[in-house]
Amino acid sequence: MISLTRRSFLGIVAAPALATRSAQANAPLPNMRVTKGPSCGCCAAWVEHVRKAGFPVEVVETNELGRVKARLGVPRKLASCHTAEIDGYTIEGHVPAGAIRRLLAERPPVSGLAVPGMPVGSPGMEVEGAEPETYDVIAFGLGGQHRFGRYKGAEPT
Ligand code: CU
Ligand code: CU
Repeated sequence: MISLTRRSFLGIVAAPALATRSAQANAPLPNMRVTKGPSCGCCAAWVEHVRKAGFPVEVVETNELGRVKARLGVPRKLASCHTAEIDGYTIEGHVPAGAIRRLLAERPPVSGLAVPGMPVGSPGMEVEGAEPETYDVIAFGLGGQHRFGRYKGAEPT
């Protein structure tokens, strides 16, 4: 009698915990909208990178990128080539997909992430034969700016 009770108790507790974990792992990623200049090649390579990582991406081409960055509050010093919007956050430049996943999981109170400049080896900026640079992913927002992560290539260091 006692062991039967215990087994059914465990059954009730274990099942929902497992269900929650797999639901999170399989949850679809939110849509991303990328705004880029019509002739930007590294932007297209970055779009490939985030698509491969599983993000559904819509690409908008415009010659008025400055306006988009201003509307989204991207600090001038952090501006790069393309600008993406995803789930209320702004993603500026060659930010690795893994950093975006972490942002969406942790949901810090920032406007978004940026990789200023175009570090060699960052996703979309791979140069054959060139050693990838180590670079910072910066979180920016009303509270200022801080380092969100340090990366080399597409991976955190
Ligand atoms: Cu670029
Ligand atoms: Cu770009």
